[in-house]
Amino acid sequence: MLKINFKKPSGEVLFVNISSKNKDEIVKEKSVKTLYLKCEEIEKMNLRKLYLLVRKMVAMAKSIKAEKIAFDFDDLKFKNANVNDQELGEIIGTQLDFANYEFTEYKTEPKEGFNFLKEIFILNVPKEIEKFILKGNVIADEVNKTRTLANMPGGDMTPKILAEKAKEAVKGLPVKVFVLGEKEMERQNMQAILSVGRGSDEESKFIIMEYHGGKVGEKPIVLVGKGVTFDSGGINLKPSSSLAGMQMDMSGGASVIHTLALVAKNKLKKNVIGLIPAVENMASGKSYRPGDIIRSMSGKTIEILNTDAEGRVILADALNYSHKYKPEVVLNIATLTGAAAVALGERASVIFSDSSELCCELENAAEYTGDYVWRLPLWEEYENEIKGTVGDLTNVHNKDSRYGGAIYAASFLHQFIKDYKFVHIDIAPRMTSMAGEYLAQGALGTPVRLLYKFIEDYK
Ligand code: BES
Ligand code: MN
Ligand code: ZN
Repeated sequence: MLKINFKKPSGEVLFVNISSKNKDEIVKEKSVKTLYLKCEEIEKMNLRKLYLLVRKMVAMAKSIKAEKIAFDFDDLKFKNANVNDQELGEIIGTQLDFANYEFTEYKTEPKEGFNFLKEIFILNVPKEIEKFILKGNVIADEVNKTRTLANMPGGDMTPKILAEKAKEAVKGLPVKVFVLGEKEMERQNMQAILSVGRGSDEESKFIIMEYHGGKVGEKPIVLVGKGVTFDSGGINLKPSSSLAGMQMDMSGGASVIHTLALVAKNKLKKNVIGLIPAVENMASGKSYRPGDIIRSMSGKTIEILNTDAEGRVILADALNYSHKYKPEVVLNIATLTGAAAVALGERASVIFSDSSELCCELENAAEYTGDYVWRLPLWEEYENEIKGTVGDLTNVHNKDSRYGGAIYAASFLHQFIKDYKFVHIDIAPRMTSMAGEYLAQGALGTPVRLLYKFIEDYK
């Protein structure tokens, strides 16, 4: 983790000057190196641009292999960012470490070490703001751990390993972890999860995480995260070009694991439960087939029209399982559909809920954290197209239409949760970073920051 220092800089330090110059430039004057960071006219600087500025600072410093940088807290105060010093501190603390991340687990370390910033000196930070910067740092640390889990190759991140990682993530914290194997899931009639996992040699797991920081008996916030450790598509095998990146199809599950860790680390006074159905979706002689009809844990039957729409099938059981907790609200997090990215591009996750109030809370948390979201409808009208002919529901549009794919997936999930407040976040658009974001290639750790902020501010 990056060391943040509020003292006078010492050693070989790159000084950052948020400048009026009209280009980014690194200048060496009398053995002092200064990074002049171009910044738009002050009036045009808003919160979104501030995130980018902080990350650009880290990226540029890394590009010249600087190990220590120093900047002035006051230089990052912009009127139109609309945040107070505490919020600014948390944001800076988060973005610095978020930008410093690289996935190095499989790289041989060069002699001079990996190219990370080691220490950051932040000058003129009011004493009472220091802890908010450090809090931001802790948030980013969990986001980065989420990225590492998601970036792991499919062969090294099986359902069993994901379950071990969940235990590791909360070691020493007051979070209980239970893992159901296939036998236990059989006993609970979790045939939706079992069916999807059947084609794989890896045993499917159901990961349960429980944190009780709130009052005894207070209804919990339940987070359900898709944990497909590799999505080949199954018998409806994906075309070659679509297989790339499918080791990250457990990103939702990873985000749930580290959100729980973060909530526990920061001792939030809330009850929070994490549920992660973890499977590998493979094509083999044991795979579930198009045409199969599965009796889910809820009793509703699912007609499988496409084995590549596996996420919603495993989540059906996980959402039904959430009822055991009589939840206050259920949030589902999944890299669920390519269609979500078709709808929004790669800049925001899609949110679905029948509660405008919840959407509004999420939208606020999204703007504040940078885990951006945009709402699509979750209307009853859409349910017509997922009605089954021989079973209760179909797992894709029953007329094989390509329209509205993200919405039908959400509507399908909704069928398994009628009585509780419900939000589904399709994070497929934000699974990996884009050029120009000043972030390492690969997994983004979406939406840990959003979930944490939402839970922290809840009611
Ligand atoms: N995991 C994929 C969705 C996905 C695609 C996530 C690309 C991230 C990047 C999901 O299981 C899937 O395959 N969805 C299908 C649904 C279709 C069969 C209705 C899709 O999006 O094509
Ligand atoms: Mn799929
Ligand atoms: Zn998938």
